[in-house]
Amino acid sequence: MNARIVVLAGDGIGPEVTQEAQKVLGAVAEKFDHHFEFDHQLMGGRAIDELGTSLPDATLEACRTADAILLGAVGGPKWDNPHAPDRPERGLLALRKALNLFANVRPVKVTPQLIGASTLKEEVLQGVDMVVIRELTGDAYFGPRKEAGEEGYEAYDTMLYTRPEIERVVRLAAETAMGRRKKLASVDKANVLASSRLWRRVATQVLADYPELEVEHVLVDAMAMHLIRRPASFDVIVAGNLFGDILTDEASMLAGSMGMLPSASLGDILNAQELPLGLYEPIHGSAPDIAGKNIANPLATILSAAMLLRHSLGLTAEADAVEAAVEAVLQEGVRTPDIAHTGTEVVGTQVMGDLVVEKLLA
Ligand code: NAD
Ligand code: IPM
Ligand code: MN
Repeated sequence: MNARIVVLAGDGIGPEVTQEAQKVLGAVAEKFDHHFEFDHQLMGGRAIDELGTSLPDATLEACRTADAILLGAVGGPKWDNPHAPDRPERGLLALRKALNLFANVRPVKVTPQLIGASTLKEEVLQGVDMVVIRELTGDAYFGPRKEAGEEGYEAYDTMLYTRPEIERVVRLAAETAMGRRKKLASVDKANVLASSRLWRRVATQVLADYPELEVEHVLVDAMAMHLIRRPASFDVIVAGNLFGDILTDEASMLAGSMGMLPSASLGDILNAQELPLGLYEPIHGSAPDIAGKNIANPLATILSAAMLLRHSLGLTAEADAVEAAVEAVLQEGVRTPDIAHTGTEVVGTQVMGDLVVEKLLA
């Protein structure tokens, strides 16, 4: 097949990890006889520096017409000035919103080989295999807000959800659970927040259509605890934008590192007539503390590329092959520093990418 993939390398380690994912996609093209065109576009900090805006029109247009989008990460201390009119992160939020990518699918699976890399005990990690579906275009991220300014007295963000926003993401989570172990946990803070009470009410109504599902409504503070106490008991978790963001960084430590967790940001895939445009992004950020050192773990981005193959290009065998190649490399005890532990061989970003390619082409 021919596909045009927009690559938004971004800032910090973004270019380093997307380069490795692109290498792997190149190897997939070679092995399976596809043609992938990589269309590099600016977004985030570099876009502010070069074009004066975090989401240039040309980037948005290229994304709209692409078959899929691969993102590294954006942001960094250089652009953290609170008075700046634009921020790298704003570009990412605007892109998700413009493309209506309301569901961020974040699979958290503990590979047996990486149990030793986690800070948690082996017996807690056995059998962990969940998908967190994070709502991505609502909540305090997009509600009315007031900035304080230099001498400002007050500032606020509004945690705002509408019924349709909740309905569509909960339905997607329910359908996902129906294709898995039929368990769904919905996260909210309904004991305190009005938006969460609406979330719970709407979720309950939607889930009435799925009597086969085993459903639990969990308060977000308790969820933060349950995630590390009984992670294997979760199958699909659905949460609002902010809660889902926080809980998945926590959940990444089940898988050993932020550098291991991929994600797919998708729109209305339940009613889609054709393969959906998606934005594929590791859950981690631009990691300024390790940028430019060739030590970042590229696997989250490589696994995001596997999700891209599966969801936006419909290439299931190819996606499986990438995931198998990653597993084979881990099986051999090769690790980037973030997932290294006793008895493993430590390699850099580029060698990790090369080894995945080698396994894929073997
Ligand atoms: P971060 O995810 O960049 O880093 C947190 C910690 O995890 C750091 O110690 C980092 O070294 C480590 N880490 C992250 N990814 C790694 C990888 N692939 N391999 C090895 N270690 C890795 O979060 P932060 O430091 O809080 O944020 C840095 C910047 O990134 C901020 O500007 C933030 O807004 C931005 N950010 C962007 C995205 C995105 O573009 N999707 C996501 C999260 C944060
Ligand atoms: C993520 C990031 C982003 C978010 C930031 C950079 C806007 O943390 O993708 O998880 O909060 O959505
Ligand atoms: Mn995040």
